[in-house]
This record gives sequence, C-alpha cells and structure tokens, in this order.
Amino acid sequence: MPSISLAERSTPATVVILGTGGTIAGTSARPGDNVGYTAAQRSVQDLLAAVPALAAPGAPGIEAEQLAQLDSKDMDHATWLALAQRVQQLLARPEVSGVVITHGTDTLEETAWWLHSVLAAPKPVVLVAAMRPATALAADGPQNLLDAVTVAATPGVAGVLAVLAGQVFGATGLRKAHTYRTQAFTAGDGGPIAVLEEGQLRQFRAWPQGPGRALDRLPARPQDWPWVEIVSSHAGARGDGVRALLAAGVRGLVVASTGNGTVHRELEAALASAQAAGVPVWRATRCADGVLIGAAAGPAAALSPWQARVALMLSLLD
Ligand code: SIN
Repeated sequence: MPSISLAERSTPATVVILGTGGTIAGTSARPGDNVGYTAAQRSVQDLLAAVPALAAPGAPGIEAEQLAQLDSKDMDHATWLALAQRVQQLLARPEVSGVVITHGTDTLEETAWWLHSVLAAPKPVVLVAAMRPATALAADGPQNLLDAVTVAATPGVAGVLAVLAGQVFGATGLRKAHTYRTQAFTAGDGGPIAVLEEGQLRQFRAWPQGPGRALDRLPARPQDWPWVEIVSSHAGARGDGVRALLAAGVRGLVVASTGNGTVHRELEAALASAQAAGVPVWRATRCADGVLIGAAAGPAAALSPWQARVALMLSLLD
C-alpha cells in the first residue's frame, strides 16, 4: 500500500471540521488535571487554533462548524441524524476532500458504526477524539486533530474512520478499550487499517465501505425509530428485566452474551418468550475481542453489543 503525506498532495483540498464536543474540547480548572475536567467546553475554532500546522502553507483549506457541544455519554439519535445529514451534504461538494468530526471517546465506536451504516462515504469521514482535555500538560487532541485532517485531505482515502494516537481504524471491531491511556482504542483481531507517522500515512488494508443506506429512508423524527435495548448475561441473571422491557414496548433486544454466545438459562427463557412474541433478539458477545462463531453466529456476530443495537434498530426499519 502506498505511503502519502499532506505535503505531497497535488490538488487543493477543503476539509470541513464538525465539532460535537468531547474531552478533546474539555477543560479543567487546574491545568494538568487529566480526569477532573468538564468535556465539551471549547469551540471547534479554539481546537483549530491549538494546531498552527493547519494554518501553515501547504495545509488544506479548513472550514469549521459547531454541530453540537456535548459529552458523548449523552449522545442521542437526533444529533446522530443531524450529523449524518450534514456529512452527506458536505461530501457532495466537489471541493471537499473529507470531513473530520471532533467527538468524545465514550461513544465514538457507536457513532462510527452509525455513520458507517447510513452513509455512502466515497471520501473520508474521520472521527477524532482525545483522552486528555485541551488544558492537559500534554494534550493528545492537537496531534490527533492534525492527523485526522491529514487523513481527510489525502486523495484515495474513503469510508468512516477513527483517528487516535497515530492509528486509523474502521468502524468494524472498533472499541474503546482503556479508561485512561491515550492509546485507548482497539479494532480486535483486524487491528488498525493504517498508521500515521510524522504526517505519513502507512496503509495496511483497504478503506472500508459501508452499505450506504439512504438517510431519507429513516423516519424524520428519531422518536419514531424502533426502540432496541441491550440486556446482559451474567452470573445470577434474571428474566424480569426482559419481561419489563416487553411490557414497556421494546421492539428489539440485543443480548451481550457470555463467551461464544452463551446466555444464562433464566435470561434465555425470557428471551425465547420475547422472540415468540415477535421481538427479535440478536446475540453479540460481551468479550472485548473475537467474534461469535459456529451456531452462535448471527447478524451481530462481529459487532459489539452497542453497535449491534444500532444494526438491529436499522434492520427493523427495512
Ligand atoms: C466524552 O466521551 O465526551 C467524554 C470522554 C472523552 O471524550 O474521553
């Protein structure tokens, strides 16, 4: 696979950066406090100002928009819809080479899977985040943002990607795997698609292409999207939670199963009743790595429970 850098780009490019919040935009009262901070405080323009290389000769043209400003634990379907619609509009502009989305790390893998599932992305759509706030002594956000823009401006790159700590991931297999380290993300057995080294992109595998489900097929109001919940199998699991969800009108269930798709017998009995009542149940694994294989393999075999929730919700709209 070829190696390419921002400086070698032959055509002028515009990269649009959409701010949505997260730790990358977080601030702490005490400089250097990496945990006692508030996410989503700095504007996307402020984040750009911390990366002088993006204003240097040879850098791509940059446009910045604040699409949202939230801690990604509070991410919601309305923001997802607005984000996907805006990205789709921007990708249609010929001069836009790619879109960068600043995001929190906590639900980044879910937003990546959402965008991968609903967008045809012939150009790069790059989620970027940071584990340390903008006020940290050694903030990781500015380097991650520079790397993300490099990827978004590189000809030939496509698909929904995540760029953190010098690694470029696709949505498949993507997981936040560490609570604190700056190298917090993994992509399971597949590993990163590429790495960035001093602005050089070294690619190992093909760029991902999602199914490109038309956004206009989604109900306009997110509150009309089918309600899908995740239940977890564990020692002492009970079926009462599933029965309460059925009574409340849940439309689909994902079970975060143990190991290779096994489920506690109490929970399994309740899930069988749900299926008999017409509520689909998809199995994903609660293991951090690996996919469901053999008889347990189904549509969510390679997805985290949180990504499987999105996939089941979308399948209920087909
Ligand atoms: C968030 O997800 O918005 C806060 C945590 C983080 O970005 O690391």
